[in-house]
Amino acid sequence: MLKLFKKGKEPEILRDELGRRAVIDIRQITKMYQMGDVEVHALRGVDLQIYEGEFVSIMGPSGSGKSTLMYILGALDQPTNGAYYLDGVDVSKLDEKQLAIIRNKKIGFVFQSFNLLKRTTALRQVELPLMYGGVSGRTKKAKAALEAVGLGKRLDHLPSELSGGQQQRVAIARAIVNEPAMILADEPTGNLDSRSGTEVMQIFQTMNREKGITTVFVTHDPWIARHTNRVIMLRDGVVVADRKVATPLVAGETERPSEAEELEGVFQEVYYGGKEEEYN
Ligand SMILES: Nc1ncnc2c1ncn2[C@@H]1O[C@H](COP(=O)(O)OP(=O)(O)OP(=O)(O)O)[C@@H](O)[C@H]1O
Ligand SMILES: [Mg+2]
Repeated sequence: MLKLFKKGKEPEILRDELGRRAVIDIRQITKMYQMGDVEVHALRGVDLQIYEGEFVSIMGPSGSGKSTLMYILGALDQPTNGAYYLDGVDVSKLDEKQLAIIRNKKIGFVFQSFNLLKRTTALRQVELPLMYGGVSGRTKKAKAALEAVGLGKRLDHLPSELSGGQQQRVAIARAIVNEPAMILADEPTGNLDSRSGTEVMQIFQTMNREKGITTVFVTHDPWIARHTNRVIMLRDGVVVADRKVATPLVAGETERPSEAEELEGVFQEVYYGGKEEEYN
């Protein structure tokens, strides 16, 4: 994937039992924030391999380090210690310019709060990453991305003229327009009602299935997590569980149960095993 830079000695690229390459390979990553005299250990030694084409959700209580991990995976931040190989490239060896190239070409980001520009139309929002990347045929590509998320008739709308679910779909179109190898999303359905959340899940599942885009996202919602192939649980900056989902749900095909307890029970031990006040 990342044939962008000359490299020194490359690490061995790990493969899973299906022969898929590890797109993400992190080893004993730690992240420490210094707050005056206080050290906050957001990540305390995380090992994680994510293979091409996987669809992974990251769960865990508030403050467990999910966003910190996503920032590192997205090359938006560097770990304090440990190694991160992104498709075989040692991210710690890249300078700011190289990191920016990787982010633009290889990774699509989707955030809970959409992060759209207020006075910019949907079409233009989606064209922006193509402009930074110096890509030609921008309008055509941006239109195609918006059509793929069902917004072909909303090209000239400003964010204030779109629903929350539609705004998030613009953000997804912006994330996929460069055809990234990987999508990273931090609670992409967190601000959406359940119908919009389902629509967004449908888009992620389709991208993953049809284009093989490796997808990693954070969610607090066990129901949403059941639509992915693998669930990783963080607590206090370490991975406490990492499981395959035996039969992932297909978005829109199964009604969300009125009582989520049944599903939450699956993860209760690791997810709610901590202190009551850890949960929001
Ligand atoms: N920039 C920062 N400076 C100092 N401490 C930070 C910073 N960012 C995060 N932290 C701390 O690191 C820990 C992990 O934070 P993080 O944002 O990764 O949690 P999270 O799992 O994403 O939580 P949430 O579910 O609430 O979004 C927390 O204790 C947080 O207070
Ligand atoms: Mg977070």
